[in-house]
Amino acid sequence: MPAMVMSNAGPGGAKKFEGRITIYVVICGIIAATGGLMFGYDIGISGGVTSMDDFLEEFFPVVYERKHKAKEDNYCKFDNQNLQLFTSSLYLAALVASFVASKICTKHGRRLTMQAASVFFLVGVILNAAAVNIAMLIIGRILLGVGVGFANQAVPLFLSEIAPVHLRGALNILFQLDVTIGIFVANIVNYLVSNIHPWGWRLALGLAGVPATMLCLGSMVIAETPTSLIEREMLMEGLAMLKKIRGTDNVDAEYEEILHACEMARQVKQPFKNLMKRSSRPQLVIAIVMQVFQQFTGINAIMFYAPVLFQTIGFKNDASLLSAVITGIVNVLSTVVSVVLVDKVGRRFLLLEACGQMLITQVAIGGILLVNLKATNDLGHGVAVWVVVLVCLFVSSFAWSWGPLGWLIPSETFPLATRTAGYAFAVSSNMLFTFVIAQAFLSMMCHLRAGIFFFFGAWIVVMGLFVIFLLPETKNVPIDEMTEKVWKQHWFWKRFMDEEEDKKHSV
Ligand code: BGC
Repeated sequence: MPAMVMSNAGPGGAKKFEGRITIYVVICGIIAATGGLMFGYDIGISGGVTSMDDFLEEFFPVVYERKHKAKEDNYCKFDNQNLQLFTSSLYLAALVASFVASKICTKHGRRLTMQAASVFFLVGVILNAAAVNIAMLIIGRILLGVGVGFANQAVPLFLSEIAPVHLRGALNILFQLDVTIGIFVANIVNYLVSNIHPWGWRLALGLAGVPATMLCLGSMVIAETPTSLIEREMLMEGLAMLKKIRGTDNVDAEYEEILHACEMARQVKQPFKNLMKRSSRPQLVIAIVMQVFQQFTGINAIMFYAPVLFQTIGFKNDASLLSAVITGIVNVLSTVVSVVLVDKVGRRFLLLEACGQMLITQVAIGGILLVNLKATNDLGHGVAVWVVVLVCLFVSSFAWSWGPLGWLIPSETFPLATRTAGYAFAVSSNMLFTFVIAQAFLSMMCHLRAGIFFFFGAWIVVMGLFVIFLLPETKNVPIDEMTEKVWKQHWFWKRFMDEEEDKKHSV
C-alpha cells in the first residue's frame, strides 16, 4: 500500500518543519558554493587562454601559424586535437573522480570532500601556471579535473542538505550562480591579461588558485551537514548542528525524518547495485538525461570557445573577449532570475520556455552565418553585433533553465539511500558530455560549419519533447515524498513503481 511505504513522508511534509533561513546557513551556503567558482572559472579561462597568441606560440605552434595565415578557413583555423585535449582532459578526470568522491562523501562527509577538492585543484593550478611543456599543462588539467569532480559532487549535495526544505531550489542554485560568476570573472581576466606579454596566460591560469584557496579556508570554518553527521552515526553532533543551522531548538520533526532516511539508507548495503534496480530507473534516467541534454543545448560550445568563436566570425582579439564578457554578465543575471522563479513557476515551465528561446536563437545564428560567413571573409559589423545579441538571448534562456536545473533536479529526485551514488551518475554524465562537446566542437565547426547550430537546434527539439512527456514537476514536493507524489503518479514512470509494488505483493 503506498501510504505504508514511505512512513517518514507523513502528512505535512515541508510544513511540519520550523526551519527558517538563518545567517549561518546563508554563510555556509555562500562559502560552499565557491566550489562552483572553481568550476566556472575554469570553463571561462580555457577558451580565453587557448585564443591567446603567446600561449599558442609556446604550446601549439601549428595552431598559431594556421591562425595567422591570411587565407585560412574561418571555420577550421582552431581545429587541433591537442588544443582540444587541453580543454577537455579536465572533464575526463572529473568524470572518474566523481565516483570516488561519492564514496568519500558518504564515508567521510561533504566537508572533507570539499577540502580535498580544493587541494587537488590548487596543485593543478600551480602546475598549469608554471607549465613549460604540454605534459605539465595536461597533468595540471587532470588535477584540476579531480578537484572539479570532488567539488561538483559534494557542493550541490551540501547545499541541498543544509537548506530549509521550502528554499531548497533557491539555495541549490547558489552553486550554479557561482559557476556563472566564475565564468564571468574568467572572461574579464582573459580580457585584461591578453595584453600582458608574454606571460599573461600564466596569470590567467594561476588566478584559478583564488577560488580554490577560498574553498580550502572556507571549508575549515563551515559546518558539516546534519544528514552527513547522522549518517555517520554522530547523532548528538547532528542534532546540535541542525539546531544551529535552523536557529531553533524545535527541530524534532526534521531530526526524526533525517534519522529515518538514514535508517533506510543503512539497509542499502550497495547503493550502486540498488541504483540498477527497476524501481530506481526513473530517477536514474532523469538524472543522466538532464545532464546529457544540458550539454546538448550547445552551451559549452559558446562558453569554452566564446572568444575563439567570436574571433572566428570576424571579431578582432579584444573585441571578441569583450563580447565574451557581455555573455558572461547575461549568464550571471539570468541565473538570478532562476533563483527567484524556480520555486514559483516550477521547473517544467522554465525548461520549456527555454527550449523555445534556445531553438529560435540557435536557428537564427546558424541562418545568419550560413548566409554571411564564407570560408575566408569577415562578418560585417552590423551582422556580428546581431550574432552577439542572439548569443546573449541563447545564454539567458539556458541560464534560467537547463543550467541550474541540470544540477538541481538530479539532487532532489533520489531517496537518501541512493542519493550520493545517483548524483555521481549525474555529475559524471555532465563531465562525459562536456568532454565530448569540448573535444568535438572545433572539429564539428570545421566540418559542419554553420550547420553546427542546426545540429544543436535539433537536440533542443528532442529535449523539449522529453520535458513535455517524461519530466514530472518537482516544485514544492518534499524530497522524501518524491516517490509517492511524483513517480507513482506519473503516467509513464509509474509502471516501474507499480511493478515493484506487484513484486512485493506477490512475495
Ligand atoms: C554547466 C556547464 C556550463 C555552465 C554555463 C553549467 O551548469 O554544467 O557545462 O558551462 O553551466 O553557465
